[in-house]
Amino acid sequence: MNAPSPVFAATPHIVVPPPGPLSRAGAAALAALESPAFDARRKAREATSGEDFAAIVYAEGQGATLTDVDGNRYVDLVAGFGALPLGYGHPALAASVQHAWNTLPLALGDVYAAADKLALATALVDHFQSATGAAKGRLLFGLSGADAVTGALKTVALRTKKPGVIAFDGGYHGLSHGPLAACGLAPKFREPFVEQLSKHVQFAPYPTTEADLDRALSAVKKGLSRGDAGAVLVEPILGRGGCVVPPASFLAELRALCTETDTLLVLDEIWTGCGRTGLGFFAGAAAKPDLICLGKALGGGMPISVCLGTEETFEPWGSHGGSYIHTATHFGAPPGCAAALAVLTTLAEGNLIAENARKGTLFQTALTAHGFSVQGTGMMLGIPLRDAATALAATRRLLQAGYLVLTGGRDGNVITLSPAFVLDDAAIVAFANIVHMLVPPEARR
Ligand SMILES: Cc1ncc(COP(=O)(O)O)c(C=O)c1O
Repeated sequence: MNAPSPVFAATPHIVVPPPGPLSRAGAAALAALESPAFDARRKAREATSGEDFAAIVYAEGQGATLTDVDGNRYVDLVAGFGALPLGYGHPALAASVQHAWNTLPLALGDVYAAADKLALATALVDHFQSATGAAKGRLLFGLSGADAVTGALKTVALRTKKPGVIAFDGGYHGLSHGPLAACGLAPKFREPFVEQLSKHVQFAPYPTTEADLDRALSAVKKGLSRGDAGAVLVEPILGRGGCVVPPASFLAELRALCTETDTLLVLDEIWTGCGRTGLGFFAGAAAKPDLICLGKALGGGMPISVCLGTEETFEPWGSHGGSYIHTATHFGAPPGCAAALAVLTTLAEGNLIAENARKGTLFQTALTAHGFSVQGTGMMLGIPLRDAATALAATRRLLQAGYLVLTGGRDGNVITLSPAFVLDDAAIVAFANIVHMLVPPEARR
């Protein structure tokens, strides 16, 4: 049994206007060393918003707060792009990773595994079976979300012998070559690489309201009628696309279309999984997907992802004497597996999924009381503002007030929140008050 999750009251403490001098110097030095894309994006954000977009440099975190190298403390509502469900420095998670690191930092992947890999595979396949009703499940390990989606796409190709996928406008599945081909969030991410990418991806609109549903389903049907699509790849709730919840029947309708046409339904739960939405361990298991990708929160900060699926879907991997496999040196490494096991135990013992539903409602109530519209569910929320420039400017004002948030959405106009599950209620209410003070009514949508 793990120690109970520590709850720290998350409050900001700004000692020097951020970014302070140490952050500015560190960020500038890094900008001269990393791919120039990141600094170019920063400058583009400055041009769009008219704000200074110099970066802070992180020093350390505790619970749901993050301190930068200048000593400023922030309430972190991003939590490592949603990958830190237990926040920073969770003792049970840290102890599990430390033990694995001290005793067995690496096993031998798919040749000789560590006991933690078996324990995690058992726990995750159990989750998959009980949530989807599948008689038997299997899984592939990865490190990143993109790895899990790549594993899913390969499994689809083997199972269906079809190269194509139907994906959605606004969807995001990672940036390595397989998932990038299916990136509907920003066609510009794909454009320079298009000759290297699969030519068999078709995009359908992601429905945001009941009125959009028919158009989205018609586009999926049309795509399926071409006959080369082996799967529909979909996020149960758009994450980077702005925390957009589709109409309630959307996934069930996709399931029906997939079943009619012998197509696989692949859920990308890399953002929504592990209980972030408060809807269950998976957000879309009721649709009985053939494959589910998990990543981000699963490792509590350690890089680990999985592609889970039914026995039947995975079966072709076994039929060629293992002449093709999906593996890598660090897939299923013990520290990542130990971290994921600690996350799963802590989620269950702390009843954190139900807590996420409750805290999500608290966020929504507090924000709507101030006149904001809010989209999303649980600890995955978006606050749409007038336009991208307004949203970017709001993130800077919030940073200066000690709150870390990002922008998302296809038009970049949504403030997105993916906080640690350990965020306390008072911090949620304080955030709603501060965002109300900093974002005037005319800037909202
Ligand atoms: C829904 C979804 N799928 C896949 C990914 C890719 O994950 P990673 O960045 O770990 O490759 C992301 C990342 O934001 C995501 O939100």
